[in-house]
Amino acid sequence: MRVVLGVSGGIAAYKACALLRLFREAGDDVTVVPTRAALHFVGETTWAALSGRPVQTDVWAQAHEVPHVRLGQEADLVVVAPATADLLARAAHGLADDLLTSVLLTARCPVVVAPAMHTEMWEHPATVANVALLRRRGVEVIEPSSGRLTGADTGPGRLPEAIELYAACREVLARVGTSTPGASGPLTGRRVVVTAGGTREPLDPVRYLGNRSSGKQGSALAEVAVELGAEVRLVSCNMPAPSGPTAGAIECLPVQTALELQAAVRSAASTADVIVMCAAVADFRPAHYQGAKIKKTDDGTESAPTIELVRNPDILAGLVAERAAAGATSPVIVGFAAETGDEQGTVLDHARAKLARKGCDLLVANEVGVDKTFGQDTSTAYLLRPDNDEVTVVGPTTKRAVAEAVWRAVADLLAR
Ligand code: C5P
Repeated sequence: MRVVLGVSGGIAAYKACALLRLFREAGDDVTVVPTRAALHFVGETTWAALSGRPVQTDVWAQAHEVPHVRLGQEADLVVVAPATADLLARAAHGLADDLLTSVLLTARCPVVVAPAMHTEMWEHPATVANVALLRRRGVEVIEPSSGRLTGADTGPGRLPEAIELYAACREVLARVGTSTPGASGPLTGRRVVVTAGGTREPLDPVRYLGNRSSGKQGSALAEVAVELGAEVRLVSCNMPAPSGPTAGAIECLPVQTALELQAAVRSAASTADVIVMCAAVADFRPAHYQGAKIKKTDDGTESAPTIELVRNPDILAGLVAERAAAGATSPVIVGFAAETGDEQGTVLDHARAKLARKGCDLLVANEVGVDKTFGQDTSTAYLLRPDNDEVTVVGPTTKRAVAEAVWRAVADLLAR
């Protein structure tokens, strides 16, 4: 695929280097078109070395090749990251006063722009109007994230991380059908299994022991994995099927109980490169299934049945043990932990202990509570590794962004 990576003059230009790498690793041809201001932040040599191609900086160089028309016409994707307020204004008003804005006028392919600027500039009515105009014209404008800006100030205006920009580009391409989902990306050729949702342990034909997991995080993991090139199997427990643009590429294996989940995961594990155990698995199940609905007694007493429970297997710990017994390092195994802090320790203390107990390669801990994480579209995740005391904090952000961070960490583990 031919990608034009436009870079305008903001401090976040350095993140475009990582974005460029992701496209290159996926086998895409990338031509970098920095604005004059962008070259103050990252120089031409860096762009040329990373892209393996000459850098196009102005309309007057190689005029015989008419680059201001050819680059846009031939591109399969134009992405501008970072896009400054000035670039957005020039693009919105159809100016063509440099090579990048000329490319934007001649491109007929999907155009993705990722604004980054100070909060005041982002919130200024002029910028708001320019963004709205670009969106009306079909340009995909990625919302900037919120956080630390160039100085001590914080707020909306940060350029999202490269992997998020990359996934957004793949999603746009998948939506318009110009790229086959999974055709190329950092997880190309990798077989991944994601478990999601919450198990239900039947008690009688109408009742079950369940939990509040919505399956949204698991869906996001599956969808992003497809965008990054993986072959994805989703073992889904009592949740709606994914509905995003890449949903058709996800093989869904619906199960209900922990034992069914274990059987599905074990059979999928034999050929998997990565297993992400995102599902909330019931630790206990009723010891006896009652074939008929358990009735209330009608003898005037307030008696209620006592339900005997038995332990479910710890599927995650079992996978780790089986891998160790086989003397193998594959698959990469990722666990999730829904934690609350208490007098024994913080969320992170409990997560660290759980990582040690489970023995997995990466643990993603979420703080849970009645109105936190479960069923919500956003969460805060802590990524812990056994060989590293550092914790990566992701969010508060969308479950999609958490999924992107998880796959970024997995891609690092796979590259070892
Ligand atoms: O022990 P806890 O339930 O908090 O551990 C959560 C992690 O372990 C999740 O990755 C979950 O999918 C997995 N798990 C499991 N089998 C169980 C319980 C949890 O694989 N019986």
